Amino acid sequence: MKDFISLSNWATKELWYLIDLAKHLKYELRSGGNRPVMHGKVLAMIFQKPSLRTKVSFEVAMKQLGGDAIYLGPEEVGLGKRESVPDVARVLSVYTQGIMARVFDHHYIEELAKWSPLPVINGLSDEHHPCQVMGDMLTIYEHFGRLERLKVAYVGDGNNVAASLVLAAAHFGMHFTIGAPEGYMLPEGVLDEAAPIAERNGGKINLYNDPYEAVAGADIVYTDTWVSMGQEAETASRLKIMEPYQVNHKLVARANQYAIVMHCLPAHRGQEITDEIADGPQSVIFPQAENRLHMQKAILVKLMA
Ligand code: CP
Ligand code: NVA
Repeated sequence: MKDFISLSNWATKELWYLIDLAKHLKYELRSGGNRPVMHGKVLAMIFQKPSLRTKVSFEVAMKQLGGDAIYLGPEEVGLGKRESVPDVARVLSVYTQGIMARVFDHHYIEELAKWSPLPVINGLSDEHHPCQVMGDMLTIYEHFGRLERLKVAYVGDGNNVAASLVLAAAHFGMHFTIGAPEGYMLPEGVLDEAAPIAERNGGKINLYNDPYEAVAGADIVYTDTWVSMGQEAETASRLKIMEPYQVNHKLVARANQYAIVMHCLPAHRGQEITDEIADGPQSVIFPQAENRLHMQKAILVKLMA
């Protein structure tokens, strides 16, 4: 595959390869530093939305691998506004060796990939967040020593992170459940893509409106913001509808005794997750954030080295 846009069109064995490579690069970094396999390569990073983890981890990843990265914020590029997406894609292709983009509309990523001969990496769109979720798979693998047959319960808004999570769970033979209000479930299209992947790999998918049913016996409880970037106008109604879906002590008590709690961050403490849980003994949110760096490197090496 030239690009890393959605987990739906990647082969399961290639995703396992990314996990192995990320583990190797993490070990290599800790035992003296990474080899400069990206020497002379530059990653263009287009951001239409804010970011802490994605921006910093991609930039640090390129630098630790001996390459470089250029941050292009909304003011610089004006993707699709100041300049058409095909033109941006073709111009960046003459200066850099790869493009990572965070966009409002998923269609922009697909257009960049179509018009650029370079690898294009999805750093989050309204529909998917594949880099996040592959980092999360590394975290889960490190914690449990396996992925298959683990139950991952996603609670709250069926958003971009949830969409990538159901696809990853399907690839890795996990049991994915979601507890989300009516109207905020995963989009039909993603479920249609995930179902055959789950079937091939022994995964299972169950949808619930009741968060307690979704979380029962889960090994991993996962949540994300109730108001994703771009949905700010819906804040009041979303906060009200999602209230029963808070990941708090009472909800986590329904999960497996040894369950871990995950959040891609940024967290809205007191909304989708309580301080007690985010900072409690079951939370892995900071190792999870760290693994973004190691997984990003694996994706970069696989596509660009
Ligand atoms: N989780 C994540 O993608 O964080 P940022 O929005 O800060 O990049
Ligand atoms: N669902 C969130 C994820 C942020 C990393 C958003 O799109 O804003």
